[in-house]
Amino acid sequence: MSEYIHTADEASVRVITIARPDKKNALTQAMYASIIDALEQGDADPGVRVFVIAAQGSIFTSGNDLADFASSSARADGAPSAAERFPYALTKTRKPIIVAVNGPAVGVGVTMLLQCDLVYAADSATFRAPFVDLALVPEGASSLLMPAALGRARANTLLLLGDTWTATDAFAAGLISGVVPASDLMPAVMARARALASKAPGAVRASKALINADVQAILDRIRHANAVFADRIASPEFAEAASAFMTRRPADFSKFS
Ligand code: COA
Repeated sequence: MSEYIHTADEASVRVITIARPDKKNALTQAMYASIIDALEQGDADPGVRVFVIAAQGSIFTSGNDLADFASSSARADGAPSAAERFPYALTKTRKPIIVAVNGPAVGVGVTMLLQCDLVYAADSATFRAPFVDLALVPEGASSLLMPAALGRARANTLLLLGDTWTATDAFAAGLISGVVPASDLMPAVMARARALASKAPGAVRASKALINADVQAILDRIRHANAVFADRIASPEFAEAASAFMTRRPADFSKFS
């Protein structure tokens, strides 16, 4: 288990907290693996009825850890990485997942929201998916789910342009369920989690399964996107983007065709 992922069960609510604030809660492979374990164990545990995903500090997550990604790009064994398994794990979780977005959500911090069931954001939260800016592509099933949820025209301002949305923008577009004052975020999320946990658990799971509809299409898109994403990670364009981030300079894509 990663020391940067904390799991606590509060009655029948399992709270999974991203706790790496000094690195802006950037997610390493070990952190993804710990979140997957917490979801899989909780999904199989009759004592857990609802998941909450939250984060420490003033940021939700800055997304994939770019140093970790750059160094783990060549996988000798061919097995899927934990980051690749993460969207599958979200798809397969039968119990509802509520997300508390306490501050900026970047990259997977945005795309994962489309696979969770309720999302509440602090009024200070922002949303940015700078995959193309990093010479990458939208990960998981986000290229399917975001246009479906928001409309392609609005989705493309996030997915192609990498625009930053405020919490108000995200709520207006239908990306999130509600906006609350920052100081009320966790009490508000926990109140909703407890309310959901008190409902008939079989009805909640069956409703989630119906609402999520075409699971096979989601799994197919994740498989396809993982393959394209892996190609992008191995590309000279991504090497330039990662190097630019690490050395705090703008990326220069002018030499690529
Ligand atoms: N991967 C790896 N390290 C990251 C990171 C990431 N995604 N995001 C932040 N960090 C690290 C920084 O390298 C820095 O480490 P250092 O203190 O050892 O130098 C530390 O976290 C603090 O980040 P910093 O950039 O100084 O904070 P900031 O408040 O100025 O900016 C962000 C915060 C989130 C706007 C900025 O860190 C950022 O843009 N991160 C990258 C986001 C991104 O592109 N994610 C990938 C999406 S696929």
